[in-house]
Amino acid sequence: MEFNVAVLPGDGIGPEVVAEALKVLQVVSEKFGHSFHLREGLIGGVAIDTLGTALADETLKMCKESDAVLLGAVGGSKWDNPQAKIHPEDGLLALRKGLKLFANLRPVKAFPMLVDSTNLKPEVVKGVDLVVVRELTGGLYFGQPKKQWRTAKGRHAVDTLAYSEVEIERILRVGFELARSRRKKLTSVDKANVLQSSRLWRQIAIEISADYLDIELKHMLVDACAMRFIQRPAEFDVLVTENMFGDILTDEASMLAGSMGMLPSASLAGIPRGKTFGLYEPIHGSAPSRAGQNLANPIATILSVAMMLRYSFALETEAQAIENAVLATLEQGYRTYDIMSNGKTRVGTKEMGDLIAQQLKG
Ligand code: IPM
Ligand code: MG
Repeated sequence: MEFNVAVLPGDGIGPEVVAEALKVLQVVSEKFGHSFHLREGLIGGVAIDTLGTALADETLKMCKESDAVLLGAVGGSKWDNPQAKIHPEDGLLALRKGLKLFANLRPVKAFPMLVDSTNLKPEVVKGVDLVVVRELTGGLYFGQPKKQWRTAKGRHAVDTLAYSEVEIERILRVGFELARSRRKKLTSVDKANVLQSSRLWRQIAIEISADYLDIELKHMLVDACAMRFIQRPAEFDVLVTENMFGDILTDEASMLAGSMGMLPSASLAGIPRGKTFGLYEPIHGSAPSRAGQNLANPIATILSVAMMLRYSFALETEAQAIENAVLATLEQGYRTYDIMSNGKTRVGTKEMGDLIAQQLKG
C-alpha cells in the first residue's frame, strides 16, 4: 500500500530521533512491501529562524495533504526568552489545533527488562499498562482571554481554562471507547472540588456513562491521581483528562516506563476507526543539552511510528513487528544513557536505531 507521511523533525534531538524512526519505517516498507512517500517540513525554532514563524502555512497545508504526520520535538533555550513574541511551542500548538487533533493517546507500559532503571520499586511498577487520553485542543492551553497587561498596580497575566460541552463529550467518548477495547476501566481525572470546568466535565462523564454500562467509570481528582500514579499505578487502565492535567500527568507516568525517552503518542481527530488521520510524536521535548551528541533515546519516536501504522494506516501486523523489535533489542541488553543500568550495553541514538532496524529485518 502507499501512504503520504509529513515529517517535521523540529529542534534539538528532534532530527536525530526522527532519523532513526525513519530508518525503521524504511525497513517496514521493504519487508512488507509498502511505499511511504515522505515530505519534510519546518516547525518550531528552526521555522522561526528561517521563516519568522513557528508554523508556516505551507507546513500546515502539507500536513493536511498527508495521511499522517511524524514529529520530533520543538523548543530550546535559544528561543526561551519569556519576552519573545513567538515561541517554538506555538508552532506545535497551532499544528494540533489546525489539524483538529483533540484526542492525544499516551500509552504507558512498564517494560519488564527496564524495572531496574526506574526510580520506583519493581513491585510498584510491575504490570503497569495504562493509556492517558489527554484533551489536546482546548482547556488551559487555548482558552481566551490569554494575555499579559500592565496597570498602575503592576503587571498582570491571565490564562483561561474553558471547555464547551461538545469538547468534553467527544474526548470522554474516546476514553470510553478505548476502555471498551481494553480492560473496561475508565478514570476521569478532574479538579471538580474547585473548578467549574471540572464540574461540567464530571457531570457530562456521568451522563454519557449511561451509553457505556459495560465500562467501570471512576472520577479522580488530579492531585490524588498524581499520588496514585506512584502508589498503585498498575490499577489504572484508561484515564481521560484536561489538556494541562494530561501534560503534567504523562511526564510523571513516563517514570513508570523508565524514561521519557520510552513514551510514544498519537494525536487523533476522533475515535480511532480504520484509518484515522493523526500526528505521531514522542512525549519528550527537544532536550537541547543532549542534542547533536548521538545520545538521545529514539525508542519513543520509533514506537510513535508503530502507533502511526496502527491508527492511521491500519497496519496492525507491521505495528506489532516494530514493537517486538524494540522489546527484543532491550531484551538483548542494549540501552541508551537514559535507561542505562549495571551490566547493560550502552549505545547511542544511531546504534539503537540500527539495532532495532536490524532486529525488524529478521
Ligand atoms: C508535550 C509537550 C508540549 C505540551 C510542549 C512542547 C508545548 O510538553 O507534548 O507534552 O505541553 O503539550
Ligand atoms: Mg509535556
